[in-house]
Amino acid sequence: MSAAALVLLSLLYQVQGSSNSERHTGLSNYTFPEDFIFGVATAAFQIEGGWNKGGKGENIWDTYLHKHPNFTLDHSNGDVAADSYHKYKEDITMIQSLGVKYYRLSISWTRLLPNGTDNYINEDGMKYYRHILEGLRKVGITPMVTLFHWDLPTPFMDLGGWTNPVMVNYFEDYARVAFNLYGDIVNIWTTMNEPHQHCANGYGFVNFVPALNAHGIGEYLCTHYMLLAHAKVYHLYDRYFRPSQNGKIGITLDSFAGEPKNASNPNDHVAVENYLQMHLGLYANPIFSSSGDYPRYVRDTIDHMSQIQGFTRSRLPFFTEQEIVMLKGSSDFFGLNHYTTYKITNCERNENWQIPSMDHDNGICMSQPSNWPKPGASWLAVHPPGFRKIINWIKKNYGDVPIIVTENGLCDDGSLEDFERVSYFNEYLYQLLLAVNIDKCNVRGYFAWTLMDDFEWGDGYVTKFGLYHVDFDSPHRTRTPKLSAINYGQIVRTRQIDFDFIKPESTKYQSNKI
Ligand SMILES: *[C@@H]1O[C@H](CO)[C@@H](O)[C@H](O)[C@H]1NC(C)=O
Ligand SMILES: *[C@@H]1O[C@H](CO)[C@@H](O)[C@H](O)[C@H]1NC(C)=O
Ligand SMILES: *[C@@H]1O[C@H](CO)[C@@H](O)[C@H](O)[C@H]1NC(C)=O
Ligand SMILES: *[C@@H]1O[C@H](CO)[C@@H](O)[C@H](O)[C@H]1NC(C)=O
Repeated sequence: MSAAALVLLSLLYQVQGSSNSERHTGLSNYTFPEDFIFGVATAAFQIEGGWNKGGKGENIWDTYLHKHPNFTLDHSNGDVAADSYHKYKEDITMIQSLGVKYYRLSISWTRLLPNGTDNYINEDGMKYYRHILEGLRKVGITPMVTLFHWDLPTPFMDLGGWTNPVMVNYFEDYARVAFNLYGDIVNIWTTMNEPHQHCANGYGFVNFVPALNAHGIGEYLCTHYMLLAHAKVYHLYDRYFRPSQNGKIGITLDSFAGEPKNASNPNDHVAVENYLQMHLGLYANPIFSSSGDYPRYVRDTIDHMSQIQGFTRSRLPFFTEQEIVMLKGSSDFFGLNHYTTYKITNCERNENWQIPSMDHDNGICMSQPSNWPKPGASWLAVHPPGFRKIINWIKKNYGDVPIIVTENGLCDDGSLEDFERVSYFNEYLYQLLLAVNIDKCNVRGYFAWTLMDDFEWGDGYVTKFGLYHVDFDSPHRTRTPKLSAINYGQIVRTRQIDFDFIKPESTKYQSNKI
């Protein structure tokens, strides 16, 4: 496989005669460039199942959900999920029929290395990913592989998980195995998915596994060592694998957008900035800023809060000079996961806060106006302009780094006629086009979340994000395309958004505009 042909950030492939479709009312004024990357994303734990098949070891989600079945809304777990362990060939056909040329998937660490360590590579796991990756290549789909999408090997959790500095080395060992095994056919890697969600909600609070509730300390230790592990793996690839494999490697960060709750109150504008620095800058600044290290505001705030709380040292660890240098520039692209927007204001700190905690350190309050539609989850309100804003914030803070949107999507109740999802993709993608064409932001690609209905962490199977419906009541886990799959396929093919895809007269959904 020619690596050079697959380089992500330059011209990739030609679209066959599709960009000349006539323009008429209802079509977006802008089109996606021919080298724009369209893809669809999944994650191993959310779709694979086969939790103990073929010698796979346990990860923290397996272990925790078996012990705490009521952690999920429907008391479900990931034992079978969408059964992609068995149905990956069908998955590839589905990806193909969307017309996308890219598929973002993650490797289950313990399918490859059952105990997490590289002293034993599991043959079945090794073959499983080989089959998927080769199957994708065979039909012209470029895989983008995430090394860590939250499913930490359980033996490492027994050692404290990401709060333990030894994880930096173990993650490097795992990455080396993956690069050695698959670097010949994988040319786009991401190290980590959403360290903010993983650390803040898994280590700080209890919304995600490992549900440590170690707020104020755990989330910052997790952040610190995940960042160092990321940088270590970037340099491993850069130094030992890139020369022969010639690929790209980066990180995926998540961020909601922020808007001032009261637009005429200057304090709320400051609050938005503080919110974004604490949630996104904490991870992005060490990697993408010209100065490196944690953002000044974050450093000062946590140091100050720690001090007035009587701690001898800051709850946020410090990087050495060497580590600051190692982290700086350690990503070939900015992977962004974005779903929704919050209104932000300063909040009075009182005894109702968890103290200490990242939220308390930051001292802001978040809300969503009741007139923003929320078709599927209490946290996900539809507000397309936020997408353009967060893309611009990245440009303002980190310059022209190529941005790849590695996740964006909407959840609902799972109906096949998913008008709201169609509209969401149309409106959000249009904001992306405005960011590129008007604001000159450097967005190179977009991955829709997600290929099919899946295990959505604490929501179990209640919350549906799929372009394809999955029948979780059937042992066959039958997949059926939703309307949004057809619409997305059309956007990918035509490189343009058809706002009239939903015909108001033919549907119960009166307006295609949100
Ligand atoms: C396209 O541009 C025209 C003229 O500027 C404008 O009236 C129309 O609303 C635009 N359409 C969309 C979908 O943005
Ligand atoms: C879940 O189960 C644990 C014990 O297994 C129990 O302590 C807890 O209250 C339960 N939580 C809910 C929300 O039912
Ligand atoms: C994983 O660790 C357990 C406990 O130490 C051990 O019994 C088992 O043999 C290990 N498995 C592999 C594949 O190394
Ligand atoms: C918004 O902020 C302005 C300026 O501080 C203030 O005068 C106004 O009362 C605020 N509006 C609301 C609804 O709080």
